[in-house]
Amino acid sequence: MTDTQAPAAVDVATSDAIAVSGARKVYTVFPQTKRVAVEDVSITVPVGAIHGLLGPNGAGKTTTLKMLLGLVRPDAGTFRVLGLDSRSRAGRAELGFLPEQPYFPPQLSAAQAMRLYARLAGLPEREIKPRTAQLLELVGLAGQQRTLLSAFSRGMLQRLGIAQAIVGRPKVVVLDEPASGLDPLGQRDVRNLMLMLRDDGATVLLSSHQLSEVEAVCDRVSIMSRGRVAAEGPIHELLGVAGATSVTVSGLSGDVPPALTALAGEATVVEGGLLLFSVPDVSVRRVVDAVDDAGGTIVAVAPKRESLEDYFTRMLSNDSGEVA
Ligand SMILES: Nc1ncnc2c1ncn2[C@@H]1O[C@H](COP(=O)(O)OP(=O)(O)OP(=O)(O)O)[C@@H](O)[C@H]1O
Ligand SMILES: [Mg+2]
Repeated sequence: MTDTQAPAAVDVATSDAIAVSGARKVYTVFPQTKRVAVEDVSITVPVGAIHGLLGPNGAGKTTTLKMLLGLVRPDAGTFRVLGLDSRSRAGRAELGFLPEQPYFPPQLSAAQAMRLYARLAGLPEREIKPRTAQLLELVGLAGQQRTLLSAFSRGMLQRLGIAQAIVGRPKVVVLDEPASGLDPLGQRDVRNLMLMLRDDGATVLLSSHQLSEVEAVCDRVSIMSRGRVAAEGPIHELLGVAGATSVTVSGLSGDVPPALTALAGEATVVEGGLLLFSVPDVSVRRVVDAVDDAGGTIVAVAPKRESLEDYFTRMLSNDSGEVA
């Protein structure tokens, strides 16, 4: 090993998988008009974690990921992957990427496209065929090897996009809206795939608008708003409502006795005619008794959590874009 290689090797052993610091991007929309897409974003992801980048449309998620990938030139910031500059050749070699709108040459078959991406990822020739078969099976495209991509549905192209992102066995996988265009089974497959990648020691960074997509797999999330990270942490901590419990009740069919309303407040009617009460933690015992007395059945008692939609709404209605 030469002296010039030594510092990188030390860095790799000790550093995070992804370290974005002070990222900033201002697009020039018209000659005189600038648009700040990413104001100031920092994200750190330890090796072996699955990290979610959540945020409403236009928050700057894709721009941040593209700066990390070296696909958009940043105005400021440092971008590191496993201790290497992620925009350098060596750094880029550690990364697999699913773009927001993956494009594939439509005249190729699935197997031909995978061969192309496997070669680009530097896979040895003898590995390409078995790896293609393994990955197409993994993403639910077994049996489609010879199908032309012009005949692929949106969801099938998305699955192929995921396969190409991991064809070179990258240590860090960046997925921009991986569930986009997928049906519920496809979304479950992608979740399982991310867990499998993590079990194999990879690190995953994904962007999403969907809470269900991220909460089942992400260790932590960064919630972005207007080009900034508004909050960062485990999702249950970010969306948990301190001191409140959700009590779900069946069998009252909107006919709530006043005594229960006095104790638990107005209920919301949810799916299947169930009633949902938001109750202070200290009153839960008495509310459960009152539901019993009224002839209702307790279906669930769980810590109250804000929906992502409510969180985004609150974030967007706040000028600073930050949520207390
Ligand atoms: N190439 C571009 N030129 C000019 N403005 C752009 C460009 N790409 C993105 N923007 C703007 O930057 C902002 C952030 O866009 P970005 O695509 O990063 O958001 P996003 O969080 O990924 O949104 P979405 O959830 O819709 O994918 C938006 O206001 C968008 O209009
Ligand atoms: Mg995007």
